[in-house]
Amino acid sequence: MMRSKILVTREVFDDTLAFLAQSCEVESNQADAAFSPEELARRLAGKDGMVCCLTDAIDAKLLAACPRLKAVANIAVGYNNIDVAACSARGVMVTNTPGVLDDSTADFAWALLLAAARRVAELDATLRAGNWTHWQLKQWMGVDIHGATLGIIGMGRIGQAIARRAAGFDMPVLYCNRKRLDADLEKRLNAAWVSKDELLARADFVVLQLPYSKETHHLIGAAELARMKPTAILVNTARGGVVDDAALIEALGAGRLRAAGLDVYEGEPKLHPGFLKLKNAVLAPHVASSTEATRARMAMTAAKNLVAALAGGTPPNLLNPESRQSSRPR
Ligand code: DGY
Repeated sequence: MMRSKILVTREVFDDTLAFLAQSCEVESNQADAAFSPEELARRLAGKDGMVCCLTDAIDAKLLAACPRLKAVANIAVGYNNIDVAACSARGVMVTNTPGVLDDSTADFAWALLLAAARRVAELDATLRAGNWTHWQLKQWMGVDIHGATLGIIGMGRIGQAIARRAAGFDMPVLYCNRKRLDADLEKRLNAAWVSKDELLARADFVVLQLPYSKETHHLIGAAELARMKPTAILVNTARGGVVDDAALIEALGAGRLRAAGLDVYEGEPKLHPGFLKLKNAVLAPHVASSTEATRARMAMTAAKNLVAALAGGTPPNLLNPESRQSSRPR
C-alpha cells in the first residue's frame, strides 16, 4: 500500500515523529525553520496531509497550490490560522487538539491573574535592578484575590477549568457565553450567567477564554474597558485580536484599569511597543498551554488525528464533517 506523504511544519517531539513514521512518509522541520508562505506551498505540494501550528496560515491560496492535500492537523485547540470553509470546499479535513490542554491553560490564566494582582513581575524586576533598599508598610501593595469576583468570558472547557480553580480562592464567578451551562454545572462552579456588560461592570478580574473570529474581533475595546471597574484586572489567554491592544495600553497607562496579565497579542510575536512601558502589565509569549506534558499530548493528538484522517476514517477531533461530503473540486 502507498504510504501517505505528510509535512510537519514545525519542530515536534521525537515520539510524535516516530508515531507518524509508522504509517506515513514524513517530511519534518526539526530545525524549526520558519517557512515563508511560498516555501510552505512548495513543501506541501504533493503531500496528502500536514501537521501544523498556529503560526501557519492555511488559506485558499495555499490549498489551491496543494491539490493532493486531504487533511490538516493543527497542534492547537484554536484554529483561526486555518480557513476551515476553504478546506471544506476542497474536501480537506481539519482537526484541532481540544481537551488535552484545558488544565495547563487554566493554570496559566491563574498564574497571570495572581502575578498581575500581586505585581510579581514588577517586583522581580525591581529586585534584579537592585532597587530594594528598605522595608516599608505601604510598599508595593497589591490587591486581594480571595473573595473577589471572577468574570470569565468564554465558558467552554478551559473557561470551566478556570472557574473550578476559583473555589480555592472563595471567589464567586460570573460568566458570559453564547450558551448557558446547565443549572447543575453552574451550581458546582458557583457561577452565574450574565450579560457581557454586567460582567464587565461587576467583576474584579475579567478572564478572556474564547476563540478569535470576525465576531470576537476587539470584543474588548475602549468602550468595554471603560465599563470595567478602575480597580479591575484583565487576563487574556484566548487570542490576540479579541482585545484592542492600543485601547488597553491607553486604559492601563491612564490608570483606568489596575492591571493586565496577557499571553496573546495583536500581530504577535510583535508587541505593541506601548506594553513595554507599562509596569502594570504582566506579559507572556503565548505559552499558556506550554508544559512539557501538555505540549507533548497536543502534538500526539494532532498526529493521531492526521493518521486517522489519512487512513480514511473520521479523526477524533474533526472540525469540518462537511468536508467529507465535498466533491473535492481540483
Ligand atoms: C491553542 O491551543 O489554541 C493555544 O493557543 C496554543 O497552544
